[in-house]
Amino acid sequence: MHSIFSRRVAAFLLASLSAFVQAKPISLAERDLFVPPVLYPHDGTFWRVNQRHNVTWDISHPPVNITNKIGRIMLRKGRVTTPLILAKRFDILLGRIEVTVPWVIDGTDYQVVLIGDPGNFSQFFAITA
Ligand SMILES: *[C@@H]1O[C@H](CO)[C@@H](O)[C@H](O)[C@H]1NC(C)=O
Ligand SMILES: *[C@@H]1O[C@H](CO)[C@@H](O)[C@H](O)[C@H]1NC(C)=O
Ligand SMILES: *[C@@H]1O[C@H](CO)[C@@H](O)[C@H](O)[C@H]1NC(C)=O
Repeated sequence: MHSIFSRRVAAFLLASLSAFVQAKPISLAERDLFVPPVLYPHDGTFWRVNQRHNVTWDISHPPVNITNKIGRIMLRKGRVTTPLILAKRFDILLGRIEVTVPWVIDGTDYQVVLIGDPGNFSQFFAITA
């Protein structure tokens, strides 16, 4: 009885240990994440609702093996990333993508988030109706 119990405990501990080892996060270097800086919009940019604009980012230093080739752009206001997706499923090596400014309240504290993984923010800019 005692030995069966210990064997079960040992098996459980071993399973937990291997799960823990598998769950170990992969370092950024191993994954070759590409998180390019956003160039436009930037500080001083002024967008109007419904206009079209090219969001641009710097593709001059991509890693050799990019793991996150598919990009997505979201809108951020203040310290919160909104659920608004401005563009998605584009090649991150394009360096630009055209977006339509969504209907949002006026503000000078907007940013776009370029998501690769974990993503990068633009500087703050303004949107007005
Ligand atoms: C975002 O871009 C800046 C340059 O503007 C860079 O220094 C930074 O490392 C990037 N962020 C991430 C998470 O890589
Ligand atoms: C975005 O850039 C492309 C390529 O330079 C250009 O053809 C297009 O007109 C631009 N769109 C806007 C809204 O400026
Ligand atoms: C990139 O990937 C290829 C194929 O998987 C591999 O042979 C090469 O060593 C990788 N290069 C770097 C710098 O990780």
